[in-house]
Amino acid sequence: MAQLQSLQDLFVHGMQALYSAETLLVESMPRMVENTQNEELRTAFTVHLEETRQQIQRLEQAAQMLGVDPNGEENVALQGLIAEGEKLMQKDAAPEVLDAALIAAAQKIEHYEIAGYGTAVYLAEELGHNEVAQLLQQTLDEEKKTDQLLNQIAKNKVNRQAEQV
Ligand SMILES: [Fe+2]
Repeated sequence: MAQLQSLQDLFVHGMQALYSAETLLVESMPRMVENTQNEELRTAFTVHLEETRQQIQRLEQAAQMLGVDPNGEENVALQGLIAEGEKLMQKDAAPEVLDAALIAAAQKIEHYEIAGYGTAVYLAEELGHNEVAQLLQQTLDEEKKTDQLLNQIAKNKVNRQAEQV
């Protein structure tokens, strides 16, 4: 069993949990792309899917720099958030309302990731892993940007359309 005896151990645990999260997301995000009717939202999900592939590579790079394995944690929180999103897609939904629901589900995931990467960047800096901190900061910025974009799409378009159903 992996150790949790030091801040370094906690940091590695956090990175492995993020690696598991991103891997699960690459598998599940295409379902969200398929299920949206909104062109802008589909583009946002597709762009973020590509970014997520890069985020996985960054975590692999970070793990290599630290001499640790990026595997080793199963992210049950993300499994739960994805399952919540899947439940929405199985409902008999009006397309406009489903789009609003998908945005809400995606933003819950983004907020979870923002929290995870926020802690990881802080711990990397604290532990003196400055290059790793920079890599993780790039991902944190992408997650925040995605969250803001989803906010805009919800507020400017999707929620208005859903209100008119
Ligand atoms: Fe991500």
